[in-house]
Amino acid sequence: MKFTQVLMITTLITCFFSCQKDFPDVANPIDGEIIDINNTNNTGNTNTNTNMVELGRMLFWDPILSGGKDVACASCHHPNFGYADGRALSIGVGGVGLGPNRQDLSPGNIGFVSRNSPTIINTAFNGMDEDGQIFPSLAPMFWDNRTLSLEEQALGPIRSFEEMRGHAFDEDVALDSIVNRLQENAEYQQLFESAFGNTNAINPAGIARAISTFERTIVATNSPFDQFQAGNQNAMTQNQIRGMNRFMQVGCDDCHSGPMFSDFELHVVGVPDHNQLDNSDTGANGTYAFRTPTLRNLDETGPYFHNGVGGSLQQTVDFYRTARGFANGGPSGGGGGGNNGLSVNPNVDRNEIDDDIRNLGNLNGDDIQEIVDFLRALDDPDFDRTIPQSVPSGLNPGGNIN
Ligand code: HEC
Ligand code: HEC
Repeated sequence: MKFTQVLMITTLITCFFSCQKDFPDVANPIDGEIIDINNTNNTGNTNTNTNMVELGRMLFWDPILSGGKDVACASCHHPNFGYADGRALSIGVGGVGLGPNRQDLSPGNIGFVSRNSPTIINTAFNGMDEDGQIFPSLAPMFWDNRTLSLEEQALGPIRSFEEMRGHAFDEDVALDSIVNRLQENAEYQQLFESAFGNTNAINPAGIARAISTFERTIVATNSPFDQFQAGNQNAMTQNQIRGMNRFMQVGCDDCHSGPMFSDFELHVVGVPDHNQLDNSDTGANGTYAFRTPTLRNLDETGPYFHNGVGGSLQQTVDFYRTARGFANGGPSGGGGGGNNGLSVNPNVDRNEIDDDIRNLGNLNGDDIQEIVDFLRALDDPDFDRTIPQSVPSGLNPGGNIN
């Protein structure tokens, strides 16, 4: 069973935030239900408590959650950039500006994060299997699947030095310090009271619950592809339909499978390292494996791959032509030693590359163009793009992003 595998793999992975299970289980009651993602009312969010959604929205936008009160979740997950940040690598603490213009003004550049910010859109569906089943409490998070569930994920950035905490306090007191700040804020007292019925919920589990409930409302499931699936033959262009067929024929869907176009599992594909990073990113458990990302809503969430080295969608899909060739021992897929027996990433032996890359069908320039056209049919720009006018702390919504 896929989810037991995911569970086993992730517990083996080096612990970052995920080992600190110091907050109560906030498992979602709909665990294991079949979710129809094309029914836009069915987001996997059984929590229809709008007060909790609005509290979560405030927490998501309020830099009060960061040590220096300068970074919010929205600094790196902003609706103007498809709830990602439009950057190859994110900048947290000490960052000023938004998206590609954001600069790290902190001494020693502490806010430089070594990975690309993934979108929040449709993270409600992370872990969804081919039948459309989801287990929200086991939903894999991060490029290396090291954390399960949105609830558990939400507390990670607050503890993280580069993302939000900075020098303000030590990691082990980070959550308590933030809880104290919220407890002292009259507006948050009121918001927690309306969402949970009491102010005792101003604790890490309550914060995580509210943020996740908000995140589960950020969904986009009515793309041209979804309309096509629902029977509207005209929703996709002929090129997109050809691209969809190529996508399946060459075997992209061996990993990009199911309603989310992801198996949510870890694979070694050999994406090259980002040249500005001092150390090679070795992925999950040092294996160079990363999680298959969803292919929905790519239009606004570039650049691509775990470190943003995929500039355009064209370039990103073209990577597979080289990856396939090198994995098979030569640029053209024949013998001949290709990249000296290495994959596209010189730190990864070609024999380590996933068989599903080696076995991809041949890809020529036309195939790549058609596949890119098809990927554009997976975009649904109609998601909640609300930017709050103000947040309870009185700080700038989204942090130092202006
Ligand atoms: C400094 C930028 C930054 C900030 C601030 C930030 N994130 Fe992220 N977020 C990232 C990056 C980068 C990753 C991927 C990290 C990795 O995979 O190791 C990520 C991953 C995630 C994921 C996993 C998505 C997936 O599909 O795996 C979620 C959910 C998320 N962030 C939510 C949040 C929330 C909630 C907050 C605020 C409490 C927040 N982020 C603050 C940059 C940021
Ligand atoms: C072996 C499994 C596998 C196969 C086969 C595969 N992919 Fe991927 N795909 C991945 C993984 C894993 C990543 C993330 C790699 C990384 O960031 O290091 C990825 C990333 C991507 C991305 C970047 C998405 C983003 O948000 O950053 C695109 C686009 C993509 N794949 C398209 C394709 C296409 C098109 C094909 C077929 C030509 C394909 N993939 C075949 C596993 C696979």
